[in-house]
Amino acid sequence: MALWGSRWRKSLEEVVEDFTYSLYFDKRLWKVDLLGTLAHVVMLNKIGIISQEELAVLKDEIKNLYLEISNNPDLIRDSEDIHTFVEESLTKRIGDIGKKIHTGRSRNDQVILDLRLYLREETCDIAELLINLRKVLLELSEKFISTPMPGYTHLQQAQPVTLSHYFLAYDAMFSRDLQRLEDIYKRVDVLPLGSGALAGSTIPLDREYTAELLNFSKISDNSMDAVSDRDFVLEFLFFSALTYNHLSRLAEEIILWATKEFSFVKLPEEYSTGSSMMPQKRNPDVAELTRGKCGKLIGNLVNMFTIMKGLPLSYNRDLQEDKPSLFSSIDELKIALRVWIGFLPKIEFDTERMYKLSSEDFLFATDIAEYLVLKGVPFREAHKIVGEVVRFCEENNKKFRELSLEEWRGFSELFDRDIFDLLNPESSLNLKKTYGSPNPVINKDVIKKREEELRNIIDRWHKLKSSLPDLMRLLDKV
Ligand code: ARG
Repeated sequence: MALWGSRWRKSLEEVVEDFTYSLYFDKRLWKVDLLGTLAHVVMLNKIGIISQEELAVLKDEIKNLYLEISNNPDLIRDSEDIHTFVEESLTKRIGDIGKKIHTGRSRNDQVILDLRLYLREETCDIAELLINLRKVLLELSEKFISTPMPGYTHLQQAQPVTLSHYFLAYDAMFSRDLQRLEDIYKRVDVLPLGSGALAGSTIPLDREYTAELLNFSKISDNSMDAVSDRDFVLEFLFFSALTYNHLSRLAEEIILWATKEFSFVKLPEEYSTGSSMMPQKRNPDVAELTRGKCGKLIGNLVNMFTIMKGLPLSYNRDLQEDKPSLFSSIDELKIALRVWIGFLPKIEFDTERMYKLSSEDFLFATDIAEYLVLKGVPFREAHKIVGEVVRFCEENNKKFRELSLEEWRGFSELFDRDIFDLLNPESSLNLKKTYGSPNPVINKDVIKKREEELRNIIDRWHKLKSSLPDLMRLLDKV
């Protein structure tokens, strides 16, 4: 029986029930629905709608239902949605008292309360995973601080960098993702309950008190916006699509690096698969699936935007469709982060081959042009001179190192014997002066700063997580 059934003479067509039913996906909100219900009835007691005795009965039954579902999640069935299930289950157990639960509340403000409670918990878990991934990346960047490898633009060998610099580049992306998540949290952390269906209530609900019980930093100040706002869902979907995009780019590096042509990495057996036909194959399926699944997270964001773009105020049933997208992005992101936290430290890097390829002469062409600049040649002129050296080498099938000093001087009088000291990746890296470059000395400093930043982030998320309300603790407190 639906919660709104009294005015209806006919029951819903079965196909309509199937069409509107959401319990199969919103049942994961059961814990937060019970938690929100507890806070609501405690507040109703404070303002005199529910007596002390009634509250005691409600608390007992909320606790019992919580324990029973914890033991047997299959108990959740037969209702239209999770809110109906919780209210019906309580009412079945305690009769008339149960009928007071929904005072001053609508499923419209209830569902969005649930989603906010749920997302606050999930963001804490995701932050922890991202922090662990960053720890792995920072450890790897320390380990390979002086390991040269070719850096690419246009996927063409460009200049020597270090393997550390690669990891620090990805760490920079995940650092921004964590900043974004912290920012989103602020907008999730708002209590919508008390907004009713769309216009609040004539009952003097104590919203500040409910917010205090559930540890929300703010309460919403417009009831129509409160029941129809899904901006924080969109923001979260954008955050997860972008974070996943970063994983997907990292995956692409690994896929390339694992090819015979690059041969930069050997994949761990636990994280790769064979071919059913070709016995020699070791395939980077984990990385490929990361790249492939990324499409789903981008799709979820587009899906949500499409749901929202034409919605008039306030609540519309379309909004029920926010949850499959949100849950899918949460689940996909969490499992992918777990996979990469385990995968990265197990990859074997062929640092000798990376070194060899980063010693290719032409990778030092820019350093040579800058050598001339430091001797007073305008850069455009220096670029032209080195371009001519490159052409000469190509035409005569020679390498930079094979040219004699006289040959160098034929291009510019300013070339000296020290030009030969430039033709190795160590010099190229160690001579880099700019902050943010792959110079190992500079990167050591960057790593130190990132580690410090990470410690602060860990502290902040730890505080947020420990401030989250817990049903059992709240039962003891009130
Ligand atoms: N299952 C609904 C949702 O997810 C709950 C709110 C239903 N409200 C309503 N007026 N029918 O959005």
